[in-house]
Amino acid sequence: MRWKRAIVVGASSGIGRSIAERLAAEGVAVSLVARRSETLSEVCDSINARDGHTQAWSYPSDVRRTDDVPDLFQKIVTVMEGLDLIVYASGIQPVVGANEYPTDEDLDTVATNFSGAVAWLNEAAARFSRERTGTIIGISSIAGDRGRRGSPVYAATKAALTTYLEALHNRLAHQGVTVTTVKPGFVATPLLAQFPTPPFVPIAQPEAAAQQILDAAGAGRRVVYVPSWWRWVMFAIRSIPAPIFQRLNV
Ligand SMILES: NC(=O)c1ccc[n+]([C@@H]2O[C@H](COP(=O)([O-])OP(=O)(O)OC[C@H]3O[C@@H](n4cnc5c(N)ncnc54)[C@H](OP(=O)(O)O)[C@@H]3O)[C@@H](O)[C@H]2O)c1
Repeated sequence: MRWKRAIVVGASSGIGRSIAERLAAEGVAVSLVARRSETLSEVCDSINARDGHTQAWSYPSDVRRTDDVPDLFQKIVTVMEGLDLIVYASGIQPVVGANEYPTDEDLDTVATNFSGAVAWLNEAAARFSRERTGTIIGISSIAGDRGRRGSPVYAATKAALTTYLEALHNRLAHQGVTVTTVKPGFVATPLLAQFPTPPFVPIAQPEAAAQQILDAAGAGRRVVYVPSWWRWVMFAIRSIPAPIFQRLNV
């Protein structure tokens, strides 16, 4: 691994947890952020139990509390004596009925999936820009590639995150900083378990997704679909003319 010290935001579950565990297994020091302190401590303790030295730290925090981020980011970097990689994996996708427009839940989704990402990744971008090195990984989604009927605001937060990460890449690439946008399809996590999944569509395991994501970022890739064949599926979906797409119940 090219990294020594990492922050994983959204490390208590699913893709973020698997990324944190994969990094730790490769000897990277990891600072874990999420709300559920007990779950986060379990992840942290299991990493530190492996070979008996402190390699993981847990920082219970809610990404919607964006005012807390600058101080917490600084504290984490001080404890680890630097930072090479940040992963933003926090996200929610509330179940939204076809005729529901739940503003409170929607704004919560914006705060978690987008505002939190801006708060954490701006801190990292400023630091990496000064140091002229570092890697930023943002977990977006295939959902951001097109305005489907289901979960309108979830899709919009992922479109916003994708565009924000592209802009960070365009700002930082010439300063030696890697920014990788990750667009997972279906990954077997508690988030996905809330929804029926279409038959015959393969579902990736979070461990395999984590490995693919870290390999792609390590190779300096700008955008990675997970698994990679989703690139071609989404190319086809993006190519459907709007009047036809509107009639498809997808
Ligand atoms: N699974 C899929 O099929 C799939 C597909 C495309 C994209 N994604 C994206 O992948 C990312 C990870 O999702 P997942 O599937 O791994 O889901 P997950 O298992 O539910 O994990 C979500 C993570 O986000 C954290 N989180 C949620 N709200 C938070 C808050 N307010 N503050 C801090 N952390 C918060 C959760 O921790 P706490 O609850 O402890 O706070 C948890 O660690 C999300 O951005 C999701 O949109 C997933």
